Amino acid sequence: MRMLDIIESKKLGRKLTDEEIQFFVDGVVSGEIPDYQTSALLMAIYFNGMTDSEQTQLTMDMMRSGDHLDLSSIDGTKVDKHSTGGVGDKTSIPLAALVAALDIPVPMISGRGLGHTGGTLDKLEAIPGYQVEISEADFKKQVQNQRLAIIGATGNIAPADKKIYALRDVTATVDSIPLIASSIMSKKIASGTDALVIDVKTGAGAFMKTLDDSRALAKALVKIGQGVGMDCMALISDMNQPLGDAIGNALEIKESIDLLKGNGPADLLDLVLTLGSHMVVLAGKADSLEEARTKLEGTITDGSALEKFREMVVAQGGDGSVVDHPEIMPQAKYQIELPAKQSGVVAEIEADEIGIASMLLGGGRQKADDKLDYAVGIVLHKKIGDSVSEGDSLMTIYSDTEDIEAIKDRIYQNIKISDSATASTLIKEIIK
Ligand code: URA
Repeated sequence: MRMLDIIESKKLGRKLTDEEIQFFVDGVVSGEIPDYQTSALLMAIYFNGMTDSEQTQLTMDMMRSGDHLDLSSIDGTKVDKHSTGGVGDKTSIPLAALVAALDIPVPMISGRGLGHTGGTLDKLEAIPGYQVEISEADFKKQVQNQRLAIIGATGNIAPADKKIYALRDVTATVDSIPLIASSIMSKKIASGTDALVIDVKTGAGAFMKTLDDSRALAKALVKIGQGVGMDCMALISDMNQPLGDAIGNALEIKESIDLLKGNGPADLLDLVLTLGSHMVVLAGKADSLEEARTKLEGTITDGSALEKFREMVVAQGGDGSVVDHPEIMPQAKYQIELPAKQSGVVAEIEADEIGIASMLLGGGRQKADDKLDYAVGIVLHKKIGDSVSEGDSLMTIYSDTEDIEAIKDRIYQNIKISDSATASTLIKEIIK
């Protein structure tokens, strides 16, 4: 078999055979296929797509290129959630605690942020002592005993994806639905979960800017999951404006704790309860979404979700007193208000630009090895549809420097105040 013929085939829009896909993945991992041929095939896939069966084959070959976690020793149906990433998306943190409080095992393997989107691991590392790198044995023990763990990838998960993703990043082939879907699902299948709820973001702050593209990605993800016997569904949620009010690592942990205490912002709470209800039903702990939602709400009112979160923090080496004293996390030197320049209704808050503003304050990475400032970020006081009077604070900017004029200008350019606003629904579609 020759890589040249495989590239030629995809260039002409033909379906690759299982053997050809396996030859490609094996060659990428062994290093026998040079980067220029891999890149050429990725571009051909970008333009000509892949059939469902090609996507499943690519996913499984990438999954088999590395370790596969066996979680069968843990009691109960293991349920995970994956989000395609957004601004202010701290959902995993309170969600894992709510679901685990119902005695459902939640083994979460999460990632770091890059660019304008935040990463769950970075947020958790704002808690003094919290360790995201724990051994596979400790991970399993924790999920068995505490029913939840949120960690970084252990061992060698899907090394083929690591190599292919690095090349996609520099060859303008990241935003290809078959490549995104196989990349995400190879890692999720390798992580050993029984069931998966996927939150596909749509809008300005998301990978997929249009509902059509988001729907196509959601369908591809679910099809791959179901094709390998995983209980899997997706929902599409809005990422035109940031989720919740807080953007920034420590600020998002504080907002997650507030939610667990019953004081979360309405949009974040709605998304957490919706995703959580699907997880509870997939785990077989409720017969209907309504019953599941009521049970989850109960874990907030009786305090058990908050205690679950504390248990996880302590089990992973963190300071559990963060729950009562979020101020033990790094605090920014300055809190700077951003007043509205006119009266009206907030019509747009461009999520990607607010994410970039938080990154420029030091809360996100511009390069993969950048150090983060956990304290900085933004807390929104107005969301789309809210009325404002001139001079009202639109947001508080948490900064370690007073000189943030360029960042303020950037934010002003990306918040629109008009006479009216079109309300955007948070949850757009469910894909099963
Ligand atoms: N997340 C992934 O893991 N892979 C992609 O290709 C895109 C987002």
